[in-house]
Amino acid sequence: MSLQRLNEVRRSFLADLEAAGSDAEALEAVRVRYAGRRSGLLQELTAALRELPNGEKRDYGRALNELKKLVDSQLREAKRRTAAASAAGSRPMVDVTLPGRRPPRGAEHPVHLVRRRIETIFLRMGYSVEDGPEIEDDWHNFEALNLPPDHPARDDQDTFYLPGGSLLRTHTSPVQARVMEEYEPPIRIVVPGRVYRRDSDLRHSPMFHQLEGLVVDEGITFGHLKATLETFLKELFHGVEVRFRPSYFPFTEPSAEVDITCIFCGGKGCGVCSRSGWIEILGSGMVDPRVFEKLGVDAERYTGFAFGLGLDRVAMLLFGIPDLRLMFSGDQRVARQFA
Ligand code: DAH
Repeated sequence: MSLQRLNEVRRSFLADLEAAGSDAEALEAVRVRYAGRRSGLLQELTAALRELPNGEKRDYGRALNELKKLVDSQLREAKRRTAAASAAGSRPMVDVTLPGRRPPRGAEHPVHLVRRRIETIFLRMGYSVEDGPEIEDDWHNFEALNLPPDHPARDDQDTFYLPGGSLLRTHTSPVQARVMEEYEPPIRIVVPGRVYRRDSDLRHSPMFHQLEGLVVDEGITFGHLKATLETFLKELFHGVEVRFRPSYFPFTEPSAEVDITCIFCGGKGCGVCSRSGWIEILGSGMVDPRVFEKLGVDAERYTGFAFGLGLDRVAMLLFGIPDLRLMFSGDQRVARQFA
C-alpha cells in the first residue's frame, strides 16, 4: 500500500460516484464500497497505515484523511441532490386537459342598462351626453335655478351640506346651469348622474340616479317639449299612453308632470299605480326666463325646455324590481338577472 494506491481509490471513487448519478440505490452501493464500516475501501486503506514504514506514515496519513473528507462530503452532497430530485418528481401532476376555472364575471347594473337605453334614444335625436360635479355649490344647485334662499327645497332635511358651504347636488339640474353658462345655444343635452338627498326608507335611498334634459334654441315651444317626451317615453316603455299634468318647478314656467299608463295593468288600475291607471314618470317645463337671465342667455332670443327623471324608478318599473334597496345592495345576483 502506498500513496499511489490511495490515488487510485480516489479516482475510482469519483468515477463511480459520477456513474451513480442521482440513482439512490447506486449511490448506496458506492457508499458501501468506499465508506462501508466493515469492508469499505477506506477501512482497508486505514488498516494499511500500520504496515507502512515510519517514514511514510505522516504523508500517507495526511492524504488518507483528505480522501476520507472528500468521500464524506461528496456522498452527502449526492444524497442531498437525490432527495431534492425525488421530491420534485413526487409533485402532483397537472392535468392540462381539465377545463379552466372561470373567472367570476360581473353584469351591467339595471340602472346602467336603463341609462344606456335612454342615452341611445336621445343620441339618435341629436342630443349629446354631458356630466357635472356631484359636489356642487349653492349657486348651481339652487340660486341659478331660481330657487331663492327661503325655498322649501333648500330645507336642511333634504340637502347634505359639506364643510365650507358646498353640498352634494340634490338633482342633476345644476348641470343645466353649468352648460348654459359655458355654451351658446343651440343646446341639446341629456345629463345622467348620481344625486343625493337626506331621505332613506323603502322607496328612497340617500343616493339615487337622475337624468336631466335641456334644449335651448330659437323658437323652441311647448309643442317641442310634448312631442319629444312623448316620443321618448313611447320608445322606452313600448305601447304606453302619455299624459301631461300642470305642475310647478322653480326653474320652469309653465311646468308639467308627465305620466304613462301603468305598465303592469295597462291602465285598468292596480297596486303599483294605486288604482289610478297612471304612473308619474318625469318633471318638465319651459325654461323660466329668469333662469336664462341669471345665466347670461338672451331670453328675448331663446326659449327652451327641460326635464328630469329618476333612473332607479325607471329600472324598477321596467324590470319589475320590487325594492329599491335591492338595487343598491351590491349583490351580484341582482345584476346578473338582467345581463
Ligand atoms: N330637478 C327636478 C327634481 O329633482 C326634476 C326636474 C323637473 C328637472 C323639471 C327638470 C325640470 O329639468 O324641468 O325633482
